[in-house]
Amino acid sequence: MKRITAPVISNRSLMPETYLLEVDAPPIAAEARPGQFCMVHCGEGYFLRRPLSIHRAADGLAFWLRVVGRGSAALAGLHPGDKVDIIGPLGNGYSVRPGARSLLLVAGGMGAAPLAFLARKALREERSVTLVIGGRTRTQIYPVEMLPAGLHVVVVTEDGSQGEKGLLTDFLPGLVRNADQIFSCGPVAMYRAMRQIVVDRPVQVSMEAWMGCGMGACYACTTLTRQGPKQVCRDGPVFDIQDILWDEI
Ligand SMILES: Cc1cc2nc3c(=O)[nH]c(=O)nc-3n(C[C@H](O)[C@H](O)[C@H](O)COP(=O)(O)OP(=O)(O)OC[C@H]3O[C@@H](n4cnc5c(N)ncnc54)[C@H](O)[C@@H]3O)c2cc1C
Ligand code: FES
Repeated sequence: MKRITAPVISNRSLMPETYLLEVDAPPIAAEARPGQFCMVHCGEGYFLRRPLSIHRAADGLAFWLRVVGRGSAALAGLHPGDKVDIIGPLGNGYSVRPGARSLLLVAGGMGAAPLAFLARKALREERSVTLVIGGRTRTQIYPVEMLPAGLHVVVVTEDGSQGEKGLLTDFLPGLVRNADQIFSCGPVAMYRAMRQIVVDRPVQVSMEAWMGCGMGACYACTTLTRQGPKQVCRDGPVFDIQDILWDEI
């Protein structure tokens, strides 16, 4: 884990209220694994950093960012050459079994941020990868043209404006059959539904939580698991879907 003052390389809006923020932070990019995140400082006047999943760690370190409040709006306003204070990589990340040949990645909305990183790595390892992306409407769907070649992509929108019409979970029964392992990032409601649908395959989910420190010191991010209370920032954010006490969170 490193703390870096990183220059912004680029910051582009590719979808409404959504930005691809790329910074120059080689020491963090070199260590980053899919599913890990960074705590990003939003500038002067902000005390708490914001957690953002690592979206790409190649030439630069990239985040896929949606504006939901003051902090994310400040990050969306960064320009090339501005400096941003980043701590990372943090958390455990997804764990792919060496023998898993066929992976299913399930992204609800912004869940494509860490899963696109996982898809790129798994394809380089010559695994077969399907990414299913769901959202309310087409302006919430990650740009398919930015995804790597060789990836099987299924898009599902609730209003049918792109891809299949319906809820992403409607299409899971058909998709899970060929998967050795399933990885997901999305809202808790989606995980609750997945838990009922996928009963015979290992599923890893990335949990969202309010974070203070991002490093295990403040307990703001505690979630309840079969092994007792766990900190999403340090023990997660990735957990086995069976380990979370869904009825108690
Ligand atoms: C491990 C992890 C990885 C994340 N990765 C990404 C990512 O790659 N891209 C991205 O856009 N966002 C990601 N988030 C969510 C992101 O951290 C929040 O959207 C951000 O902190 C909001 O800050 P703000 O000041 O703009 O909003 P605030 O003004 O603090 O809050 C505005 C609204 O945003 C929601 N919100 C704020 N913080 C969180 C949070 N931690 N979890 C869930 N909802 C929240 C609440 O509904 C709140 O009402 C991630 C969160 C976690 C825990
Ligand atoms: S955010 Fe402080 S312990 Fe997790």
